Parts: sequence; C-alpha cells; structure tokens
Amino acid sequence: MRGRGGGGGAAGRVGGCLGERGGQAALGFTASLPFDRRLFRQDIAGSQAHVRALGRAGVLAEEEVEALCHGLEQVRAEMDAGRFEFGPEDPDIHLAVERALERRVGPLALKLRTGRSRNDQVCLDLRLFLMEAADQVVARIERLERELLSRAEEGREWLMPGHTHLQPAQPVLFPHHLLAYFWMLERDRERFVQARARTGACPAGAAALAGTAYPLDLEALAKDLGFPRVMENSLDATSDRDFALDFLAACAVLMVHLSRLATDVVLWCSDEFGFADLEEGWAGGSSIMPQKRNPEPAELVRGKAGRVFGHLLGLLSTLKGLPLGYASDLQEDKEAVFGAFDTVRGCLEAMAGVVRALRFRPEAMEAAAGRGFSTATEAADYLVRLGVPFVEAHRLVGEAVRRCREEGRRLEDLTLEEWRRLDPRVGPGILRALSPRAAVEARACTGGTAPARVAEALKRAAAVLGSSDLRTAPQQPPTGRRPAPGRG
Ligand code: ARG
Repeated sequence: MRGRGGGGGAAGRVGGCLGERGGQAALGFTASLPFDRRLFRQDIAGSQAHVRALGRAGVLAEEEVEALCHGLEQVRAEMDAGRFEFGPEDPDIHLAVERALERRVGPLALKLRTGRSRNDQVCLDLRLFLMEAADQVVARIERLERELLSRAEEGREWLMPGHTHLQPAQPVLFPHHLLAYFWMLERDRERFVQARARTGACPAGAAALAGTAYPLDLEALAKDLGFPRVMENSLDATSDRDFALDFLAACAVLMVHLSRLATDVVLWCSDEFGFADLEEGWAGGSSIMPQKRNPEPAELVRGKAGRVFGHLLGLLSTLKGLPLGYASDLQEDKEAVFGAFDTVRGCLEAMAGVVRALRFRPEAMEAAAGRGFSTATEAADYLVRLGVPFVEAHRLVGEAVRRCREEGRRLEDLTLEEWRRLDPRVGPGILRALSPRAAVEARACTGGTAPARVAEALKRAAAVLGSSDLRTAPQQPPTGRRPAPGRG
C-alpha cells in the first residue's frame, strides 16, 4: 500500500465538471495537505462516525459500514506509523484519506463521500482538534500554576519591592507578586475551558452549505464523536470560524501574561536587580563574553508572543469580509491554529521550567524592598492617624523625602526631632511604621499583601488547583473516541 504515486482510482480527486485533470495546474498553490495532514486522526474519526451514521440511516449496508470502518482504521494505523506516502495528487487530508481507503477497500471507498462535503468535514476536524488542544493547554497552564504556587510557598515570608512605572513604590510579599500571575493564569485557564465548550457543536450534516439530503441522525453522529451538541444552522456550521478565534484569542491573552512574567524573570536575573539566577541549563552564554548568563528562554517566550497575536489578527482579517458559505480563504484557519497551539504549548512548558529553575536571592529582594523611599506612604498614613489631612501629610512627607535625597539619607535616618519639626505630635511609633514589614502588614484589605491575606490567598490557590469543584472542569466527551491532536 505504500510508495505508489499517481491516482489509480477515482478517489483522491475532486473531478466533477473539471474532468480527470481538474485543478492540477494550481494544485501546488491551493493544496492544504502540507499542514492539514496533521488532522488525519480527526478526519478518520469523523469519517468513521459518518459511515456509521450512513449505516444507521440505511444508506449503507451493515457489511459496508464494517468494511469501511475497518479500512479507515487501517489507514489510520498506516498514517500514524508514517507509512502512508502522500502524493502530489492529494490536495488535502480529506481526499488523501479517501484515496488511501480506496487502496484498502476498492471502489466501496467511493461511497464515503455520500451526503457530506469537505466543507463540513474540515470544520469537524478542526473542532475535534481544538477541543483536545484546549485540554492540552489547560493541563500545561495548571502545571505552570503549580510551579508558581510552590515557589510562592517556598518564599512565603520574603519581602520584595513593588513597582509602579518601574520605580520603587511600596514593599510587597514575594508570594503576593507570584500569585498575581497565578490568578492571571487561572483566568486564562477559564478562557480555554470556555472556548472548548463553544467549540463542542458538531457541524456534521451541514454538507456543502445547505445541509445533507440523507436522513442522518445528526444528534447520534455528534454524540458518537464526543460533541455535546449539533450546530443550529448549516450555513453557519460550514463558514463559522468563531471557535478558532476563541482559541486564538485565549492564546493571545495567555501570551500577554507569559510575556509579562518573562519580563519579570529577565529583570530579576539582571545584575541591576540581582533578585534571582537561573540554574545551569536554563541560561544561555555568549560566544564572545565569557561571563554571560542570559535568561534566553524567558526572552524567547516574550518574543514569541508577537507571532501568536499575528495568528489571531491574521484570521480576524481573513474572516471579516467573507460572504456567507464556504470560501477557500477559510483554509487559512489551520496554520494560524497550529502555529498558535504549538507556540503556546512550547511557551507554557518553557515558563514552567524557567520558574522551577529560578534561584531566588531573598536577601537582595528584602534589601531592595526598603530602598527608594518605599515606605513614604507609611509616614503619610502615620500623620493621617494624628489627624493631618492626607493631602497635607503627603506634602509634608514629600518635603522630608526631598531633603533626604539631597543629603543622601533614608527616611529611617531621620531623628524623632526632625519628624517633630513636621508635626509636633509625632511619636516614636513613626520609626516602626517605616519598616517595610510593617508597611506590608498594614495592607490587610481583601486582595492586599499583608501576610495574613497572602496566607489565605495561598490556601485558596492551592484549593483551586486541587479541586475540580472550584473550577469548571473541561468537558470530556462521553466516549473515548476523541482523537489526539498531534503532528501529522
Ligand atoms: N482544504 C480545505 C480547507 O482547508 C477543505 C475544504 C475544501 N472545500 C472546497 N470546496 N474546496 O478549508
């Protein structure tokens, strides 16, 4: 069954009014096989379900159903093992499977096309692919969440500077910073679960655009493939790519988050910050500068965000002017989806590795937490407690900061005498209030960085990770028939 180029049968060609050689000249340009061969498992699963539906409808005899399903299974095994040789006569995976089947079962294969079209077939394949892809992304998001949580637990007492405008702002707890990413990822996870749920509508039976003329039980067909429901409208079913946009949009937002985390890693590992190092194997060297330890995996995650945004924007642009009904433009969906999926999967794995490979320097973080007048707000709040209006307190402390800057001192270096010149009611409590730890402890609001709040947040994050009740679990299809997406 291998190595034979050329047609040899009627399958594998579209033919029609174009005749035997129809479309050959443009084939190289219009072919989608180079990328959609990756959908062979989904395509074959869809064909087997279609054959069973034709059988239930009495269009195919029982032996025909049996022979076609068995033949398709053999084609799957052959393609799985990389033994099937695709030829120049295969414009896409759908016709390639048909041709492969004809070699297995002979002219019976020509009945496979009954009552459907590549237009519904390709949507079905891509929806199956994306449901499984969403599950894979969710599993990798969870892995990164786990890494973040375990690093946050490890440094639950550590202080670090919080920044606004990348200027020292106020001290925060180290786990508070890491948990900020945890909750971003948690929303990303939800987005993929939701995208998956919307993808779970089966387009089979829509055929070319108007619906199939054969009495197929589409609910049963959908169930057979693990789809929770059937598309409402055949025209929509064949020309909608919202489900791909949902996936790409979820990928794009996820990449924004990964990219920001990557920037933090790059900053932390800089000599100027000095908050962390990357373990051997996770930093790259320089071919000329012997001292270099560059955070390359993090930089690349940041760099790859752009291509994922590009895939989303590309498909949005492809779709926006299309008339209703299938158009070949829609074939552009697959490379966007595959490109984004591969990139996101790779980036999630890389980031989990990077987070695990960080060797933090808590002393450096703690020292930095108190620099840059980061507790000036505490001094103002102290004055407010004495009855000074906040704006006035802000002005007084601002003056003190200016003087300290000029004299090269810190706020903690000011004597009680000097504070009392700002307001005679100031007591020794001000010196305690100026410590970064006191500053953190004071921020005990919901979602704040006080140790008690952060301890609760760590518990909630662990509970969310550990329990499927607290999160919407991805909906698994009832049967185990759903094929895995992989490289074709
Ligand atoms: N290769 C096509 C795609 O990826 C499959 C559908 C082709 N349909 C058609 N009538 N040309 O979208």
